[in-house]
Amino acid sequence: MIPFNVPPCTGDELEYIRQAIANRKICGDGEFTKKCSHWMEQRFHAQKVLLTTSGTTALDMAALLCELRPGDEVILPSFTFSSTATAFVLAGARLVFVDIRPDTMNIDETKIEAAITPRTKVIVPMHYAGVACEMDAIMDIARRHGLKVVEDAAQGVMSSYKGRALGTIGDMGCFSFHETKNYSMGEGGALLINRPEYNERAEILREKGTNRSKFFRGQVDKYTWVDFGDSYLPSELNAAYLWAQLLKADEINDNRLNTWNKYREALLPLAQSGKLELPTVPEGCVHNAHMFYIKAKDLEERTALIKHLKERDILAVFHYVPLHSAPAGLRFGRFNGEDLYTTSQSDRLLRLPLYFGLADQDRQAVINAVREFYNER
Ligand SMILES: Cc1ncc(COP(=O)(O)O)c(C=O)c1O
Repeated sequence: MIPFNVPPCTGDELEYIRQAIANRKICGDGEFTKKCSHWMEQRFHAQKVLLTTSGTTALDMAALLCELRPGDEVILPSFTFSSTATAFVLAGARLVFVDIRPDTMNIDETKIEAAITPRTKVIVPMHYAGVACEMDAIMDIARRHGLKVVEDAAQGVMSSYKGRALGTIGDMGCFSFHETKNYSMGEGGALLINRPEYNERAEILREKGTNRSKFFRGQVDKYTWVDFGDSYLPSELNAAYLWAQLLKADEINDNRLNTWNKYREALLPLAQSGKLELPTVPEGCVHNAHMFYIKAKDLEERTALIKHLKERDILAVFHYVPLHSAPAGLRFGRFNGEDLYTTSQSDRLLRLPLYFGLADQDRQAVINAVREFYNER
C-alpha cells in the first residue's frame, strides 16, 4: 500500500529526545522549546513565537487574544479545517463564512468586504495547501475597517507571500506541527505574534493565567495568578522531535517540492487536454509543497478515481466537508453571499500521496495509475 501520509522523521529525533531526558527537563519551555521558537523567530523574521500543544490551541490562543464579546463576528472561509472555526466559537464569536476562489481554494478576498457588519472584529484567512491568500488586499480591508487578522498558516510553514513568511503578515499567525504537516512533533503548533502588545497577555494565557514566564526571566521575584488562562505548553519531548526537523527544514522542503514538481510535470498533459485541473500558485507566492491535489470533473469522477487508486494499493484522500453545511457550522455561523465555489470545488478535489521521503517508484506508480484512469475515459 502506498500511504497517503508518513509522519516526517529525519533520523536525529531519538538523539534529541534522549538529550531532553538527560537534561532532566521534560515539561515545557526547556532548551528544545527555546531552540525551536528562536529558530522560527529568526528564520521567519517573526516578532515572537510561542510553541503550543497543537495548531488548534495556537488558534485558541489567537482567538482569546482578540478579546471578542458575545455576538462579535469573525470572517473566514467555509472550505477549511474545523479548528479554524471552533477556536473563535470557543472565544464567543459568530462565524461568517465567505466563498473561496476556485484557483487557489483560498478565501476570495473580493468577497470579504460585503460580509463586514458593525459586529465584525476579525478576518481569518487560511493559506490552503501552503499557498498564500491575497494578503495585501486582506490587510488593506482590515486596516480600513479596523479589524484584526489571524492567519491560519497551519499548512504554511516555510511558505511566503511577496517575500514575507506566512504567519507573520497578520496580527497573529498559527502553525501546526501535527504528524500530517511538513514538520512535526506528533501533536504541536506555534503562535506567531506580530504585534508586541500581545506578548505579555499571550505568555500569561499559555501559562495557566500566571506570570511564570516573567519569573523565569528574572523580571519578577515570585510568580502568581494574574488572569484567566490555560496550559498550552508542549512537552520538551515533543519539542526535541521538532528540533530535529527544523534543523533539516530545507532538506525536507526540497524533497517535498521535488515530488510536487514531478507530479505537476507528469500530469500537465492531462490538464492541458482538459481532463483534470492542477493547483495554481499565484505570482509572489512561494509554497512549501504541503499538498498536491488534482480536481476531477465532478464528485462522481472523483469517487471512481479514489476506487481506481485503491485497487492499485494507493491511498488518496479528500477534504473538507464545507463548514457552513456541517452541523456545527449551521449552529454557529452563516454563509454570506452565494456558495459559487466552496461546495462544487471541494467535491472535485483529491489529494495524492505526498510526504518527506516518498520513493521515486511510488510516486511513479501514483502517476501511472492516474494516467491510466484518464486514458481509459
Ligand atoms: C487549516 C488547518 N487549521 C488548523 C489545523 C489544526 O492543527 P492541529 O491538528 O495541529 O491542531 C489544521 C491541521 O490539522 C489545518 O489544516
